[in-house]
Amino acid sequence: QFRGQVTLDGPSGTGKSSVARAVATQLGAAYLDTGAMYRAATVAVLDAGVDLSDAEAIARAVSAADIQVGTTADAELVTVDGVDVAERIRGAEVTRTVSPVSAVPAVRRLLVDRQRALVAEAHAVVVEGRDIGTVVLPDATLKIYLTAAPEARAERRAGQLGVTDPGRIAEIAADLRRRDEYDSSRADSPLRPAADAVVVDSTGLDREAVVERVLELARTAV
Ligand code: C5P
Repeated sequence: QFRGQVTLDGPSGTGKSSVARAVATQLGAAYLDTGAMYRAATVAVLDAGVDLSDAEAIARAVSAADIQVGTTADAELVTVDGVDVAERIRGAEVTRTVSPVSAVPAVRRLLVDRQRALVAEAHAVVVEGRDIGTVVLPDATLKIYLTAAPEARAERRAGQLGVTDPGRIAEIAADLRRRDEYDSSRADSPLRPAADAVVVDSTGLDREAVVERVLELARTAV
């Protein structure tokens, strides 16, 4: 029985979520999708109609909202003020707005506190995001940084969206690049591997191979 914390960080389109869910299920661990929390916070900001260049107003809107996320791998439970937003957080509007919202330090402080509180309740947990190994859980049992070549990431995302048109795939690639640049260059908790993270490149690997590799590392990390 695995006891401990596995962190899974990395840019978008690496297959991070499906790997994290599968690993959590295999380990019998809880699962926390911190990206879903930042996306739910973005819903609150959009619905409050605040100016996206006003960091204080963004932070106020997020702290006023009741944001709940589930901690099991087999269900996606995300609510804002009691409304199910599991589908909406995956839409284009939220995806476009989430990076500027998550770059606001007061928003990060609030959500990081909640993330640590949720993790503290679990004996075993898999947490995915951008800053989990570097900031949220610096003493985690196992830290994975998942990467993949940009083309592989764009194709994976296009596949999820059912897009086959090369022009649209190029647009998806540009969107991913923009979001990753934003996430990597922000001052507070930028996207980067922790010094003690194991870097796994998923280019050309199927999900099962990546899951096997992480499980193997988890078994030897205990
Ligand atoms: O993982 P996902 O693509 O759902 O994350 C959405 C966005 O939330 C990221 O692009 C990033 O801006 C933000 N995020 C973050 N820190 C995390 C998780 C997500 O800033 N730990």
